[in-house]
Amino acid sequence: MPKLLRTISEVSDFTSLYHLVNRRIGLIPTMGALHEGHLELGRKARKECDCVIYSIFVNPIQFGKGEDLERYPRDMKGDMEKLDSVGADAVFAPETAIMYGKDHSTFVDTGRIGRILCGRTRKNHFRGVATVVLKLFNITGCDQAYFGKKDYQQFVILKKMVRELDLPHEIIGIDTIRDPDGLAMSSRNSYLSDSQRKSAVSIYRALSKAKGNLLKYKDKSDLIRDTRSVIEKEKSAEIEYLEIRNADDLSKIKSLKTGKKFVLMTAVKIGGTRLIDNIELN
Ligand code: PAJ
Repeated sequence: MPKLLRTISEVSDFTSLYHLVNRRIGLIPTMGALHEGHLELGRKARKECDCVIYSIFVNPIQFGKGEDLERYPRDMKGDMEKLDSVGADAVFAPETAIMYGKDHSTFVDTGRIGRILCGRTRKNHFRGVATVVLKLFNITGCDQAYFGKKDYQQFVILKKMVRELDLPHEIIGIDTIRDPDGLAMSSRNSYLSDSQRKSAVSIYRALSKAKGNLLKYKDKSDLIRDTRSVIEKEKSAEIEYLEIRNADDLSKIKSLKTGKKFVLMTAVKIGGTRLIDNIELN
């Protein structure tokens, strides 16, 4: 079993020898309720690093009022068994009080890029993500950290943070891991009823159809309109946003024909459950 670390000094003790002899530490930050997507990050880290540390922490400062902080799925025992199977060395699973003192007031401001797309409805979400990830970088002193491109905006924002704050850590992205029917794996999929789970498949169906038909479109608004209609065929699906953005900085695109890499990004509510997904185009 991986070693369970509960405090910052336990992490320091654990990592000190690796630091001393210059061994490579890989970090996989998570909020637990682990699935294959999380495990794939660890498998990649296992190949590239001498020491693989997962963090499991449901980070309160990235949740807004009325979001699912309290009911977010938690399964520490199951998670430890899964992490044993990928050969993780340690798991850092702190209580909230370890991470944030009562008068915590220092945050990473992610700027405009944190207020678009998901940030439009989830105010302060990316500020909370960037703050906890920076703390986890500092606590573990990791050389590299692994993130899923399923949370594409998060991935781009964290890469920007590392670049702009001159952090020594390398951010490594992995492609989205999906269920056999295409639904992106997510801890939040457990909120879906059977019929909602079936409706949720329309998200990836729509994104992959858009990718497949890309060359047929001259105008991006036609592509967006047709993609929306595939998702909205499902009565329970409510699109929060569906946008094509430049893949490197999430800026808006003028036309489909610039030769650049684009990403089609969406957030869809199925029943009360908010799901996100994206697909890289060209
Ligand atoms: P969480 O949603 O638990 O995800 C942890 C990591 O797993 C993230 O990098 C996420 O992008 C990746 N991941 C989730 N589902 C995936 C999938 N289907 N395929 C590939 N990777 C996937 O993202 C967070 O936690 C938090 O915001 C965190 C970064 C831990 C900060 O609190």
